[in-house]
Amino acid sequence: MDLKGKRVLITGGSSGIGLAIAHAMMSKGAHVVITGRNGERLTRATKALVVNGSDVAAVRADVATADGRARSLEECLAVLGGLDILVNNAGGVRAGRLESTTEDEIRAMVEVDLVAPILLTQAALPHLRASGDGLIVNVASGIALIGAPFYATYAGVKGGLARFSEALRRELKGEGIHVLTLYPGATDTPMMQSSKAGPELGFTREPAEAVAEALIEGIGADAFEVIRGGEIRAKMIATNRDNPAAIDERFLIIKPALEEAVRGHSAL
Ligand SMILES: NC(=O)c1ccc[n+]([C@@H]2O[C@H](COP(=O)([O-])OP(=O)(O)OC[C@H]3O[C@@H](n4cnc5c(N)ncnc54)[C@H](OP(=O)(O)O)[C@@H]3O)[C@@H](O)[C@H]2O)c1
Repeated sequence: MDLKGKRVLITGGSSGIGLAIAHAMMSKGAHVVITGRNGERLTRATKALVVNGSDVAAVRADVATADGRARSLEECLAVLGGLDILVNNAGGVRAGRLESTTEDEIRAMVEVDLVAPILLTQAALPHLRASGDGLIVNVASGIALIGAPFYATYAGVKGGLARFSEALRRELKGEGIHVLTLYPGATDTPMMQSSKAGPELGFTREPAEAVAEALIEGIGADAFEVIRGGEIRAKMIATNRDNPAAIDERFLIIKPALEEAVRGHSAL
């Protein structure tokens, strides 16, 4: 797909990966609307997102609510006059043992990471069909491919989003709407600030711009998925499929250190 002139809605485009995707898409000539809950963060992002003389529109809305989803879409359509690309990027995480995760935290992850992208996609579909050359990008996570301890709920919802994405791609095949799943690995964004897990535990962080550039390349190639983490990660994904007990053993060794490092990891 050529991004020039494409009309794009990016949920959670005020920070991190979403912000980098907005910038990268604008650099390719796309017209972008971003969303987020925090007004100051949105204002900072809109000021930063002036590319080749074009700027970005922002909608302050909580995508985890019905009203927030409706306003995100309506205001985006009002600004852009239609929609070619939906990027379901807004997300949240709370790490820690399942027993020490509250029901509210669990439900918050289910709502923002899984229910919101499904319902926003459903609402956006008539507009993506009208485009004739539509694209849905679902931002899952590497954890959807290899479940990590202390991220059980997050792995569950991101894994759910990834399968939703795959099934919908097949459902829409031949109908003018492509679906791409993005699997970022650990990425240096505000979401990761409260995590102390570093390279020693397998969480080497890359810049959000690198994830965005890989996505742009994937869109250009009509890829089904973009998986970050390189060869090492690809081997680990294969091992997880063919010999999951080996991955269990690796996690067993680092479990105490990992539990301690991610105890405070929260971005909801
Ligand atoms: N960073 C990583 O290591 C990593 C790895 C794998 C996958 N991911 C995924 O990548 C996506 C982006 O994460 P990030 O690392 O870029 O995080 P981030 O820097 O914290 O950005 C998250 C964005 O989503 C917005 N957001 C969160 N909840 C929202 C809601 N309910 N309604 C509307 N906007 C909401 C945030 O703005 P407000 O807070 O102002 O609403 C912000 O713009 C997420 O889906 C995340 O799960 C991240």
